[in-house]
Amino acid sequence: MSDQSSNGNNGKKQDQPFLTNRQGHPVYDNQNSRTVGDRGPATLENYQFLEKISHFDRERIPERVVHARGFVAHGEFEAYGTIGDEPAAKYTRAKLFGEKGKKTPVSIRFSTVIGGRDSSEAARDPRGFAVKFRTEDGNWDLVGNNLPVFFIRDAIKFPDVIHALKPDPVTFRQEPNRIFDFMSMTPESMHMLTWLFSPRGIPKNYRTQDGFGVNTYKMVNAEGQGVLVKYHWKSQQGIESLTQAEANAVQATDLGHASKDLFEAIESGEYPKWELCVQIMSDDDHPELDFDPLDDTKTWPEDQFPLLPVGMMTLNRNVENFFAENEQIAFGTGVLVDGLDFSDDKMLVGRTFSYSDTQRYRVGSNYLQLPVNQPITQPRTNQRDGQMTYYVDGKGENPHVNYEPSSLGGLTEAEENGKPYEPMISGKLTRSKLSRTNDYQQAGERYRTMPDFERDDLVLNLVTLLSQAERHIQELMIAHFLKCDQDYGRRVAEGLNIEVSESMVETA
Ligand code: HEM
Repeated sequence: MSDQSSNGNNGKKQDQPFLTNRQGHPVYDNQNSRTVGDRGPATLENYQFLEKISHFDRERIPERVVHARGFVAHGEFEAYGTIGDEPAAKYTRAKLFGEKGKKTPVSIRFSTVIGGRDSSEAARDPRGFAVKFRTEDGNWDLVGNNLPVFFIRDAIKFPDVIHALKPDPVTFRQEPNRIFDFMSMTPESMHMLTWLFSPRGIPKNYRTQDGFGVNTYKMVNAEGQGVLVKYHWKSQQGIESLTQAEANAVQATDLGHASKDLFEAIESGEYPKWELCVQIMSDDDHPELDFDPLDDTKTWPEDQFPLLPVGMMTLNRNVENFFAENEQIAFGTGVLVDGLDFSDDKMLVGRTFSYSDTQRYRVGSNYLQLPVNQPITQPRTNQRDGQMTYYVDGKGENPHVNYEPSSLGGLTEAEENGKPYEPMISGKLTRSKLSRTNDYQQAGERYRTMPDFERDDLVLNLVTLLSQAERHIQELMIAHFLKCDQDYGRRVAEGLNIEVSESMVETA
């Protein structure tokens, strides 16, 4: 507190860094506006005040449309040099995997999906698990979740599923009736709902959960041969979850317990670790399977497609500034390095457009020039200008040439690392579902393999929310659960005091 009449500088030690404005002018008085006399009015030429207050007015950028609440940490990924028992090079020429002991810096952002930027971290909600690998070939983002499957399998339905899960546009409350209205008409969501309403739907904190790439990707080797891949992160801290009652108690006193837990663990040197594993399938349609390998509502059975370890991630450094490293970090499924590729998974293709599109709006057209998003390699492009351009990307020998091709010393195309990967694609242009939908089988299998306490918790959680939905929606949901597993459907019906009719059982 400084005296009204003083310039607030009295206690200042000469060797402390002093305040300036953004123009570099020293600030002599940060306590008192410039006024005519000590009672005002204030003058408008006060640059120092105007700069300070108008910058404050612009402090927020739009929060993410989904995954608004999150927390970032940094660390490293150490490769085993192998994928299972084979040299990694058998499957991929990506340089971060090939050499045993090779370390790649990483940044990770954990998040919840539906709530706003300051919402509860104890919500029943998938957790985002987005990792940015800063490799010598540029960035690779693996943008995943803590649950292995998703609600929908076609990106065109994403705005709808999110609108149903987000607050009602009139009451601004998350309404079970709207959520189950959508889900009851979306049978492919049953597998995801079975995970989400089980204890896995509320991880105890960000350290005690696994991560999954969810969508199907590809790896490509030096000969240009590709395989289909699913990614898994195995928590070395084990899996721990909260019951709904425990979560209610946590969020009654702290909305950000998971960020706090992660930050404090890293501060105290208790560095969390996850092992990265992959499942691999040959790159074809696999007609022998009862599901489509490009369907993100399905898991790949681990007895047929075992988890093959490829390396270990350790988080060992906290952010220095939440805004710069959490709000401005930008992940996207299109951000791949040589040796890694997309599959034709329809969700993945839609996601790949969506991430950089929203980031150009949310952060700005030069979001990739921000330190947290820059690759460790020097970007060299002919892209220029735009709002908030921070620097000119690396140039060729001749700074006058910002186009390509040129004989005057501009940038040239890079040489490919290995044989190009050129799969044949043909088919009728259409709008249609995958032919092997099989919406209920894996949900039922998941239900049957749960220990009793998980099944009890699943039914309790579903009944608690479904009891707030209209009767016809409850009945539709019961019919779906019966199709997953008769016991599953009957127990939900019992909890809702609804008699299972013959017609429900027959259609089930
Ligand atoms: C077609 C389906 C999807 C679309 C269109 C979509 C779109 C988006 C958008 C627009 C954001 C905000 C990004 C930002 O503002 O920086 C986002 C964030 C995110 N999405 Fe998706 N998403 C889809 C499906 C999924 C799936 C299946 C997963 C999990 C595998 C997932 C994981 C994430 C994560 C982890 C984030 C937060 C990234 C961060 O921490 O900054 N999304 N998504």
